[in-house]
Formats: sequence, structure tokens, C-alpha cells
Amino acid sequence: MRILSGIQPSGALHLGNYFGMMRPALELQETGEALYFIANYHSMTSLFDAKERRKNTLDVALDFLACGLDPKRTVFFRQSDVPEVTELAWLLTTLTPMAMLENCHSYKDKLARGLAPNHGIFAYPVLMAADILIYDSNIVPVGKDQKQHVEVTRDIAIKFNNTYGETFVIPEPQIREEVAVVPGTDGQKMSKSYGNTIEIFAEEKAIRKKIMGIVMDSRTPQEPKPDAENNLAVQLLKLVAPEETAKDFENRLCAGGLGYGDLKKALFEYYWNYFAAARQKRAELAANLDYVNQVLAAGAAKARALAQKVLKRARQASGLE
Ligand code: ADP
Ligand code: TRP
Repeated sequence: MRILSGIQPSGALHLGNYFGMMRPALELQETGEALYFIANYHSMTSLFDAKERRKNTLDVALDFLACGLDPKRTVFFRQSDVPEVTELAWLLTTLTPMAMLENCHSYKDKLARGLAPNHGIFAYPVLMAADILIYDSNIVPVGKDQKQHVEVTRDIAIKFNNTYGETFVIPEPQIREEVAVVPGTDGQKMSKSYGNTIEIFAEEKAIRKKIMGIVMDSRTPQEPKPDAENNLAVQLLKLVAPEETAKDFENRLCAGGLGYGDLKKALFEYYWNYFAAARQKRAELAANLDYVNQVLAAGAAKARALAQKVLKRARQASGLE
């Protein structure tokens, strides 16, 4: 069983990334052969600052290792250290209908927001398909917003197999329904592009301010709140506090007598403790960048060897060799 996922180095990682993608991916390390990478080629579609890309890439590496990626079990690397993936993207793009890409939410969202997307944004799912197919991946753990891209990958792989003969393994997305979409501080999907994130690793003061700043309605603490289940702070608390504790806060909010300020304070405390060990580990790693770079180099060498085999298979099947 081969498991593969990637994450873009486009900014500090947040609770949506953690609960939607990283934690499921980290749990899957135990069950199969996992490959996780930092999608720096993909970040080029929306980030145009070289220094920032370099810094974000290192940050994502530190974040992942601090959160429990085990480099002895899992192959961890930078996407661009396996340049073969861009060649495979070309082989795939020639079999990808325009209409399929025009139909992708990520592209349509950009259009709807009045942006003029570059060709990289349009072709993004094809490079993602190459990422997945080049490692013969079976399972792709991602958040719900990436499901369509994995479906596109399946369609392209099937088309390639039908056109040139059995070449690719057909992958399956794996999505945790219970945390399919983590809400941000404004109630929309938590996303770097909406400025509503709670970062996994940030200064205490900044996060405290963000959490205490979550806007609530004007009902008094005494008033019962029968809709407590939908309260944003309760939803986030369910991710970082033990189940009974979160339920207890929900019940108290529902019954009346718990103020929003106290609820948000509790959310901050549980959040802060939840990542305490990882925060410590991250500080240690940041003081030992040679080790981090070694992990990425060793990961790249392993990933590249796998990728070269699959690319050769695809080149032979399609008559390039
Ligand atoms: P962002 O929207 O902040 O730019 P990315 O698109 O880089 O995040 O997402 C990286 C991974 O994290 C993907 O697998 C994505 O599905 C997951 N993810 C991002 N935001 C959320 C969220 N709010 N809830 C659940 N999963 C998320
Ligand atoms: N598109 C993914 C995201 O924004 C990142 C990504 C690139 C990816 N290639 C991938 C995820 C391959 C899974 C598999 O989150």
C-alpha cells in the first residue's frame, strides 16, 4: 500500500492543514509506505518571491517533522528534487481534455473572484496527477477541497491506460469526513488565502489575540444557546480538547451561564497545550538545520529512484522509447 500526499509552501501551516491533511497523513505512516512532499512547483502558480518560497519550504519541513513525520518510515522530500514529475505532466497533459480543467473548482474560484489565472493555475491538476501517478500511489490523504483533483487524476490515468496500455495505478482519495472542512476565525473554510487562519506554530500573543478576536453574537452569558453545537469556538475546541471536555463546554453554553470570553480562553489553552510537545520539537529542529536538509536529501534520492522507474514505463508505453 503506497500513500502519497503533498502540501504547498505558500504560507504558515494552520489548523485546517493539520486536521484536514497532516494528521491523517501522519497516522497513515503506520499502515503503509508513505511519501510526503513539499509542493514547491505548485507554489509557483501563486507565489512569486524566491526568498519567500525558500523560507516557506523550510518552514513546512520543520512543521511536518515537528508534528511527527518519521523520516525513518516515511519518504519526505521537495517536489522539485524529482524533476521527472514535470516530464510526466507533459505526457499526461496531452491526454487531458480542456473541459475537464475548465471544470475544476480551484480554477473556477479564481475566475469567479475576478483574477486572471496564469496557465500554471489552469494546468495545476495535471502536475498534481503526475505527482500522484509517478509513485504508483494507492491512497491520497487530502482535505475535501482536493478531492476533485484526485478524481481528475483517476480520469487521466484511466485514459492513459486505455490509450497506451496498463501503465498507472489508479489512486483513491482518502478524506476524513469528521474534519472535512475546518472553519476559520470568520466561520468560512480556514485558508491562507482568506486571512482567517490559526497557525499551528506562532507566537503565543498573536494566537491569543486571534482566538479572543473570534466574533460571537451579542447574547449575554446567562442566556441559553440551543445552537451551541454550531458555535465556532466549540467546533474548534472539539479538535484540540478531549471529547468529554469539549462536550461539557458545549452543554454549558447550551444551558446558559458560560460566557463567550471564557469559552475562547479555554479554546486558547487547549490549543496551546495540544501543540506544546510539537513546539518544543520544532525549536530543536530549527537549531539543527543540517539534519533537516539531510532528511530532505535522503527522501529525494528514494523518491527519485521510484519516479524514474514509473516515468520509463510511461515513456515506453507511449512510444517515446
Ligand atoms: P490553504 O487553503 O490554506 O491554501 P492548502 O490548499 O495549501 O491550504 O491545503 C493543504 C492541505 O490542507 C490540503 O490537503 C487541504 O485539503 C487541507 N486543508 C486546507 N484547509 C483546510 C480546512 N480548512 N479544512 C480541512 N482541510 C484543509
Ligand atoms: N494541491 C495540493 C494542495 O494545495 C498540494 C498537492 C500537490 C498534492 N500535489 C499533490 C496533494 C499530490 C496530494 C497529492 O493542497
